[in-house]
Amino acid sequence: MERLDKLFSSSAIFTRKECLIAVKKGRITVNGLVCKSPSIKVDHLKDVILLDGKALEFKKFVYIMLNKPNGVVSATEDGNQPTVIDVLPSDFKRDGLFPCGRLDKDTVGLVIITNDGVSAHKKLAPKSKTEKVYYFEIADEILDGQAEEIERGVTLKDGYTVSPCKLKMLSKTSGYITLTEGKYHEIKRIFGSLGNKVTYLKRISFGGIELDPNLEEGKARYLTKQEEELFTK
Ligand code: URA
Repeated sequence: MERLDKLFSSSAIFTRKECLIAVKKGRITVNGLVCKSPSIKVDHLKDVILLDGKALEFKKFVYIMLNKPNGVVSATEDGNQPTVIDVLPSDFKRDGLFPCGRLDKDTVGLVIITNDGVSAHKKLAPKSKTEKVYYFEIADEILDGQAEEIERGVTLKDGYTVSPCKLKMLSKTSGYITLTEGKYHEIKRIFGSLGNKVTYLKRISFGGIELDPNLEEGKARYLTKQEEELFTK
């Protein structure tokens, strides 16, 4: 049994506030009776819950887009520092959520948070070569030939050769880089291997899902149907 408004918000149908409004308007019935309070306890497997007379489809999995702020770690729990789960607006919180992949603490931008372990695992598996696009700024101007070097795949200081990347420079010190693997501090280490330093990093796309330009840092929204398909395919 769980609260009606929690059930609606965790199934991405309504936020708790929207659920309250729908209850006030008499749009929700439970077992044939008009629901009077969003805090009543329901069991969506047994109770007949209708919205405007129609049966609801309660989803098992949720997919959330978070615009991660600086200073937040990509983990579910951390004794000292705020995590991407801690900063999720309360309407999105439910058990079992975790971030699909990691951004560094000082990297901002798109993180997908879900409770669908199978799809997340598939997206993160090396063989899926999921494309991740980042906007970056670097301390020093890129030198002639270095963009091509990055595109071919540089060898890092530890001897690892990075897979070829796409690079689109916007200026001598900023651009977009697309990775198809997810090594620790990969972009910082790519530029580090060329004697440069990343000063700003923002993920703007993951597996074809683009960070919503209207989503401010620290804000979240559910993926659209189309985005969900991209994530689960
Ligand atoms: N590469 C990095 O260096 N940091 C990130 O957060 C992601 C990719």
